[in-house]
Amino acid sequence: MRLIEAEDHEDLGRKARDVVIGVLRTRPASLMALATGNTPVPMFRELAAVARTDPLLFQQARFVTLDEYADITSDDRRRLLSWLNREFTSPAGIDQQHIIAFEPRADHLIECARIEDAIAEHGGLDLVVLGLGPNGHIGFNEPGSSFASRTRKVALAAESIRSNASYWGSEADVPRNGLTLGIGTLREARSILLLASGASKAAIVARLMQGPVGEALPASVLRLCTKAILLADHAALSEVDHLIRS
Ligand code: F6R
Repeated sequence: MRLIEAEDHEDLGRKARDVVIGVLRTRPASLMALATGNTPVPMFRELAAVARTDPLLFQQARFVTLDEYADITSDDRRRLLSWLNREFTSPAGIDQQHIIAFEPRADHLIECARIEDAIAEHGGLDLVVLGLGPNGHIGFNEPGSSFASRTRKVALAAESIRSNASYWGSEADVPRNGLTLGIGTLREARSILLLASGASKAAIVARLMQGPVGEALPASVLRLCTKAILLADHAALSEVDHLIRS
């Protein structure tokens, strides 16, 4: 895993945009899995601005949702697909037909197999953009997830329910289960970009960079991947030992 430092959240958005655009220029028909949540919001804004000036650049790209809440209705306000649409695909003018999305009400075994098949049919993921949960989760792959896990239904960890409460009002508003691309699925992507921003991520970023690699910290799998980049801002890196950063 290679580290790229950003000044702050906005700078992280610009640097992440450059990585995504670089992949698109190399392979216009790329398949990308994109995280939702707060961290990628500036990146989405930057990408939407590029898409408005150069819509052809995004025309052949296809997108897959990294994760979704399970057991909610298709039009539930908490649907992560709606978050992706609001922050990125709508302002970028991306055709809904170009998004492969989890259907939260479908039979989860069939649905997860459908998503895996869609990725395989495309020839694999070209880029995965991940956020970092406060407990080290990537997608909804919670601590204890196998590094070989495939796309599946999972129970959200208590810490994830706590952190997701800020999106929806209270912990009671957070669905208890999710659907997520598996760690094994994500590891097969040609490029992986992990984003971390803000002081609230400093402790988990320090653990990620300095602690042991293992399934107790799902994101640590990326330390085994030479094609993975950690793009983190100064606040998120503030607890990392200086020698490791340089
Ligand atoms: C969301 C997702 C999650 C978030 C993570 C960080 O699609 O996959 O793993 O990326 O919980 O969330 P934020 O960016 O809101 O801190």
